[in-house]
Amino acid sequence: MATEKIPVMGDGLPAALREMLGPEIEVLEWDDSPGSPALAKAVGIVTYGHPHVDGSLMDRVPNLRVISNHGVGVDHINIEAARSRTIPVGNTPGCLDASTADMTMALLLATARNVVVGDHFARSAEFTHYDPSQLIGYEVSGSTLGIVGLGRIGKQVARRAKAFDMPVLYYNRRRDEAAERELGVTYVAFDDLLRQSDFVSLNCPLTIETTNLIGTREFSLMKPTGILLNMARGPVVDHDALYAALHSRRIAAAGLDVTAPEPLPRQHPLLGLSNLVITPHLGSASNRTRHRMIQMTVENLRAGLTGQALPWSV
Ligand code: DGY
Repeated sequence: MATEKIPVMGDGLPAALREMLGPEIEVLEWDDSPGSPALAKAVGIVTYGHPHVDGSLMDRVPNLRVISNHGVGVDHINIEAARSRTIPVGNTPGCLDASTADMTMALLLATARNVVVGDHFARSAEFTHYDPSQLIGYEVSGSTLGIVGLGRIGKQVARRAKAFDMPVLYYNRRRDEAAERELGVTYVAFDDLLRQSDFVSLNCPLTIETTNLIGTREFSLMKPTGILLNMARGPVVDHDALYAALHSRRIAAAGLDVTAPEPLPRQHPLLGLSNLVITPHLGSASNRTRHRMIQMTVENLRAGLTGQALPWSV
């Protein structure tokens, strides 16, 4: 006799994740429309590409036992609503710190040293001879990096920056003296970090406090040679203010791995600026990290489905 499969709703789950779920789990395609049969049937939810999950959606999944998020950031899930309904939420902390820090350095180097503009130029008919006066960027070695959010990822960024001989400043909700001793980083007030840093790297979670953390006032404090890097979440930066700062060269450049909205509308003025390097949310997109994220997502899901404590819960 065939045993019944466990119905789980997921958004665009890749083959690798489906395979790891095994044959006993039935994946229902994401459908949060009114009267959705998937919602009525599901006992678990997997959020893969950041679909929005709020209390009203949870209420429409009467048998919901667990929400398992692929990724560490859970700003697209109403955690309070899940808590008040005693629905455990899992995420994938730790495994993506190194790859996200690597990508922070990739954006830092790309913005400072004209990697993207240089690539386009090198492919174009305009590149006719080597000219030492062209595309002179900002020296990374010895420049000051300011990290906003010295959490797990921020610390990994600091380690990498130290290998580039960069003095590292940080701003965090709480000062971390152990990290200062271990990493040789210096705690400064937020405004001082903006004033003193050559690169400002956003590695904080998106919260009410960090929404629009960087706007017109903050750009006015940054150096005109300053470069902003956002590896956190789009809404941490006011995009109108960012456009004004980049277009007027109030700051030198920006590197964005995340935007609000994501993706930006194709006609968005930011996309026309050559002093912006933009990538499509690639922070954790490396082979080993993705594999581990999938494993952790599946382990959390399985635990929640069987009523056990999640190995990684929010
Ligand atoms: C994360 O883990 O939060 C990344 O942004 C991917 O979701």
